[in-house]
Amino acid sequence: MDEAPPSPARRRIGRYDIISELGRGGAGIVYKAVDPQIERTVAIKVLFDRDNDPERYWKRFQAEAKAIAQLIHQNIVVLYDWGQQDQSWNYLVMQFVEGNPLSRLVGSHLPVPRVVRILRGILRALRHAHSLGVLHRDVKSSNIFLDTLTEQPLLGDFGIALTRTSQRLTTEGVVLGTPEYLAPEVCQGQTPDARSDLYSLGIVLFEALEGNPPFTGDNPLSVAFKHVHEPLPQLTRTDVPRELENVLLRALAKNPAERYQNATEMLADLDAIPTGDTKSMPLTPAVPLPLPEPVERRANDRRRNERRGSGSQSVLSGISWKHPLVLVAVAILVIALTILALVAWMALGHR
Ligand SMILES: Nc1ncnc2c1ncn2[C@@H]1O[C@H](COP(=O)(O)OP(=O)(O)OP(=O)(O)O)[C@@H](O)[C@H]1O
Ligand SMILES: [Mg+2]
Repeated sequence: MDEAPPSPARRRIGRYDIISELGRGGAGIVYKAVDPQIERTVAIKVLFDRDNDPERYWKRFQAEAKAIAQLIHQNIVVLYDWGQQDQSWNYLVMQFVEGNPLSRLVGSHLPVPRVVRILRGILRALRHAHSLGVLHRDVKSSNIFLDTLTEQPLLGDFGIALTRTSQRLTTEGVVLGTPEYLAPEVCQGQTPDARSDLYSLGIVLFEALEGNPPFTGDNPLSVAFKHVHEPLPQLTRTDVPRELENVLLRALAKNPAERYQNATEMLADLDAIPTGDTKSMPLTPAVPLPLPEPVERRANDRRRNERRGSGSQSVLSGISWKHPLVLVAVAILVIALTILALVAWMALGHR
């Protein structure tokens, strides 16, 4: 049995050919790889953790992985496959996302409409997962990816039982999450529910606006204490609409009963925020454009006629056949023709 997780030098995990290492977090190492069977680029996460009872751990891992693989949604990183390397290292095979994790962008004073757009996508992901009874349990900015091709925000790394690590708060072997994003009730050892995921997303919202999460500290316990007891710091940004600040306050209520009860509620409040975000506007205007005033229309007609007349302006342009001047002229013409006909007839008759 190997003592270290597979390295790129091994070149292969399961049937997947490793291309490069993408990075490592608290839970494992992520590789870029290719599935040779269908020539698809994938991301493989090899988990650090092993268990005293590998058989039990493998069973629990598979059960969670099956639930997560059911999550097919445009805002969720797809889990394609999973397996075990050297009867030791569990790994997950995921959709490879070409883009940046949100954690890499939070320090760059993201514009409010962009933050709202990202949040909406992640809420749709959570609404879908929660409707299927799956909690994320580790919502944080490094698990939110921004796809450079589609500009879609994608939520990855579902299921904390799959990614246990000593860096996180644990009680009796139960994994709780990353301290900076943990809901107060979870810090106090209660079982998380959908509202705990929404609290974590509230922390992501604060971080996306301010550049750092609201509660930080030297060790997990001091951070957990702040989640439970400290009021939320004031936002320093002045361009955050009052409605978005209200979403933040409600998502981050210490008491879950005062929080958004589900993702649909939070999404409804976000959808009502006026951000002037043209990317989320329909392509055709909802209200028909007003017709030009008749004066404008006449001016347009005149301009069109001028263009058709290639510079030479007709005197009659714009005058209707029903105009009195035209009628008089026609009458005179008819009379003149009648007289001419009479004169001609008389002249012929006298011959
Ligand atoms: N599906 C993916 N597609 C592309 N890159 C990914 C994918 N999943 C993870 N990565 C990248 O791999 C690196 C390691 O990810 P990992 O999830 O291990 O770190 P983390 O999210 O910071 O920590 P944690 O272990 O708490 O989730 C990061 O740079 C991440 O952006
Ligand atoms: Mg991650």
